[in-house]
Amino acid sequence: MAEIAVDKKPMGTSLCTLRNFSIVAHIDHGKSTLADRILQHTGALTPREMKEQFLDQMDLERERGITIKSQTARLHYEDAQQQRWIFNLIDTPGHVDFGYEVQRCMAACEAALLLVDASQGVQAQTVANTYLALQHDLTIVPVINKIDLPSADPQQVRQQIEEILGIPADDAVLVSGKTGAGVVQLLQTIAQRVPPPQGDSQAPLQALIFDSWFDAYRGVVALVRVMQGCVAAGDTIQLMHGGGSFTVQEIGAFAPKPVVLPQLSAGEVGFVVASIKSVHEAQVGDTITHANRPAVKPLAGFQKAQPMVFSGIFPTEGGDYTLLRDALEKLALNDAALTFEPETSTALGHGFRCGFLGLLHMEVVQERLEREFDLDLLMTAPTVVYRAQLNSGETISVDNPSRLPEAGETTCLQEPFIQANIHTPTEYLGPLIALCQQRRGRQISIDYASRTQATLVYHMPMAEVVFDFFDTLKSMSHGYASLDYEPVGYEVSQLVRIDILLNGDKVDALSLITHRSTAYQRGRALCEKLRSLIPKQQFQIAIQAAIGSKVIARETISALRKDVTAKCYGGDISRKRKLLEKQKKGKKRMRQVGQVSVPQSAFLAILKT
Ligand code: GTP
Repeated sequence: MAEIAVDKKPMGTSLCTLRNFSIVAHIDHGKSTLADRILQHTGALTPREMKEQFLDQMDLERERGITIKSQTARLHYEDAQQQRWIFNLIDTPGHVDFGYEVQRCMAACEAALLLVDASQGVQAQTVANTYLALQHDLTIVPVINKIDLPSADPQQVRQQIEEILGIPADDAVLVSGKTGAGVVQLLQTIAQRVPPPQGDSQAPLQALIFDSWFDAYRGVVALVRVMQGCVAAGDTIQLMHGGGSFTVQEIGAFAPKPVVLPQLSAGEVGFVVASIKSVHEAQVGDTITHANRPAVKPLAGFQKAQPMVFSGIFPTEGGDYTLLRDALEKLALNDAALTFEPETSTALGHGFRCGFLGLLHMEVVQERLEREFDLDLLMTAPTVVYRAQLNSGETISVDNPSRLPEAGETTCLQEPFIQANIHTPTEYLGPLIALCQQRRGRQISIDYASRTQATLVYHMPMAEVVFDFFDTLKSMSHGYASLDYEPVGYEVSQLVRIDILLNGDKVDALSLITHRSTAYQRGRALCEKLRSLIPKQQFQIAIQAAIGSKVIARETISALRKDVTAKCYGGDISRKRKLLEKQKKGKKRMRQVGQVSVPQSAFLAILKT
């Protein structure tokens, strides 16, 4: 957001010509592509500025073809009767990890375009997002996308929307984000079916912050939906929860590039810049009001996003610790869901224990740290947060397996459970039920939404779901089953900690917590995996898995007998140097545990067993 234009055709915004809506869908049903077509048809971007999935602006989003951060766009639309409208479109992420982003966007809208892929039909996130939209009292406009595909079956999808979601779909708009077919009709439908926002621009100001981030030039940029009143540059505003007072410097909207506006009134969506130094002072969910004429009470905010998965992040070079801390602080400024606190491991040195929304979020953070901050990192296997009830009656949270108290110190251990909602074609029900049972799932219900579609509801330990469950589910159902989950609390479980010892030294970063019934199997598998990952060294290495003081599995790596440089006799010195250089690079990612060097891949071996 370096340069800001002034909106060239500001209109006296009247509520009756304003439409706020978000686009929600299951992942990959084509939200960002459809948003492109809407941007094009409303003339928001010139053909030269247009690039595919314009609203996915992060490099990582473009490379992976996924939306991570939601984006807003204020668009001018003129219909066939020359009536002019202002549309505020919000493109939301589809992956279950970023569901909290979708919730926040819904608070800023009156309607949701529910996009359903004409060949895939209704999937888990379609259902989850529909419920979310209904909870927010949004008008739902069903849109069937990708009608250009040969496998498209709009009639069947209509039926699914009615049967599974209970939403009338005979007037669902048929579109193709790829070819642009149906987009004009969609814009017309938006104008007609999305209700205008309510609000009184003369009332005391109440503006809900539904996103905020840090901009190096302007400080915090708060994305707001004005519910009541009006805010303009020069106003002194107050944050009703944060408490701070600030002078507004700039008011504007993303169109989709930032434009300055004279003011934002009730019903409008836009940004407020007020030299706020840290996002903690203008947190998402807070209400902005005027300092001299405050609103009586703040708006209902949002629940804080709760990290679900934790992992240790350590720099490969001990000296990079402060760089890593600065990088995490910077990332956390724009990612309210990322949490971190210092952690020390005997094997890996100083680092941070970080909390993520799920595995995709974790991968995104790791990649951003490595790319944007040029850090070399070692990450430990992710874990969920367990609870231990101590003999004293106190209950503690355990987000690091190595900190699980010894068996004698606790009365019981608990693990987090989730409710998994799995939507699948009926032909895959058998294998999927077997999979859920194998993962310690407890069946709650099976609903047949139609002759071909069923919904399985299971309560399952979160540790069994967050890691590879989704991939297994996809491969078992040839990509047709989909999953959505939400936490449902803690349950007492027979848990044990497996420690890994290398030549008798415990490697804290390799400890894991698992269910007693699978402990022996996992211990054995982990030892075997480590044997294949740890390179031979000058001495024999014993790999042991132990529960408490009882060793449950053992593998041995025999000593290295051959001198690796032996074949590099005589000849040019530069050849040897090159070889040594290569070796040095490899060694950088190894950690010395006692005498044994352990490669990064070993720390993630737990995931693969
Ligand atoms: P997330 O933001 O990650 O949830 O994805 P999304 O819903 O924004 O989907 P996206 O727009 O990234 O599209 C997903 C894939 O579907 C891309 O490969 C698109 O090219 C393709 N796609 C989108 N719309 C259409 C369409 O109308 N027809 C066809 N044939 N393909 C489409």
